[in-house]
Amino acid sequence: MAVQESKFNLTDLHDTIAVVTGAGNHGIGWGLCQHAASLGMHVVILDLHDSLVDQAQRELAELFPDIQCLGLKCDVTDPDSLAKCLTTLQQQIPDKRIGAVFANAGVIFNHTILKSTAEEWLTTLNVNVVGVINTIKTFVPVLQQQQTPAVFSATASIGGLVRGDAGAASYQASKHAVVALTEALSFELALKSPYIHVHVLCPCIVQSGLGRTSKVNQRVKSGEIEAANVEPTRLSSNDLAMATERHAEQVFDHIADGNFYMITDNVRPYVDHDFPFDGLAVVRERFENILQLKLDNSDAQKPGASGIASAILKGPMFDELERRSLAKQKKQ
Ligand SMILES: NC(=O)c1ccc[n+]([C@@H]2O[C@H](COP(=O)([O-])OP(=O)(O)OC[C@H]3O[C@@H](n4cnc5c(N)ncnc54)[C@H](O)[C@@H]3O)[C@@H](O)[C@H]2O)c1
Repeated sequence: MAVQESKFNLTDLHDTIAVVTGAGNHGIGWGLCQHAASLGMHVVILDLHDSLVDQAQRELAELFPDIQCLGLKCDVTDPDSLAKCLTTLQQQIPDKRIGAVFANAGVIFNHTILKSTAEEWLTTLNVNVVGVINTIKTFVPVLQQQQTPAVFSATASIGGLVRGDAGAASYQASKHAVVALTEALSFELALKSPYIHVHVLCPCIVQSGLGRTSKVNQRVKSGEIEAANVEPTRLSSNDLAMATERHAEQVFDHIADGNFYMITDNVRPYVDHDFPFDGLAVVRERFENILQLKLDNSDAQKPGASGIASAILKGPMFDELERRSLAKQKKQ
């Protein structure tokens, strides 16, 4: 087995720096920051607005007073913005090496292809795909210079491993691209820099406000909202979703185990219920379809337990959510 897929001793991360993009809201990136800090890592929080990163820096410093943390405004679609952040982090936290980089920033616009706008596609591909490429180009050369064990993780989604579905084609297309480009990165570094452990993160359902943060950021871009007034968004209300801190535990367990495809499912011990998303079952369906050269569209014929016709949002978690929703309606 190649060295890149070998186990990683998490104690090697102690006293190194974790860089996390898209960590200024209370979503997946924030959970990664907290877990990294709990391992004794210094943390650099990158996100679009000063208002978000300043608050996240304050909160993390209060929770983990023994580590250094830095919140920096950064637009991952702009290579100069990332380069500036690298320079600042090297000035502000000198003499520490970078132990882990999480290219995690992302957006979603839940529209069908026919109802989506060209701008939504461009923003989605720019943030979700080009943003990851820019993050690789900024930080991987630093990891290569260090020549010590380090982690590079790109956040895709379970949506990047399964069949295209009704509702968020731009998102899924972008996440399929993230999976492919991260596999390519692993190949590119395998011989040259085997001490860099490359991973693609494919979360199932984690508490976050991704849909809302994406809309807010669009409104800032169009001038409808002042960047200074952007506050961390509320989290999703799906109570079977994983809490971000427990999700981060699962991510670091995958890193320690040397799993390239970090599918983070809603399973124990990371959730307190027995209604998984069952991501592997949906991945298997896609690959069985491919091996038979046929696309099974039967899920498109009727709304499933999630309330929409979907080949992805089905399985034990959505059956249980529907059962709970029906029970609630009966009570009212
Ligand atoms: N929450 C889930 O269930 C889930 C599932 C699969 C994949 N993901 C992925 O996880 C990642 C984190 O999303 P989340 O769900 O935690 O939501 P989130 O809204 O907390 O995180 C996304 C962050 O990216 C930031 N961002 C957007 N554009 C940016 C840019 N140009 N430069 C810098 N930052 C930018 C946003 O401000 C936001 O803070 C995303 O890539 C998302 O696609 C989430």
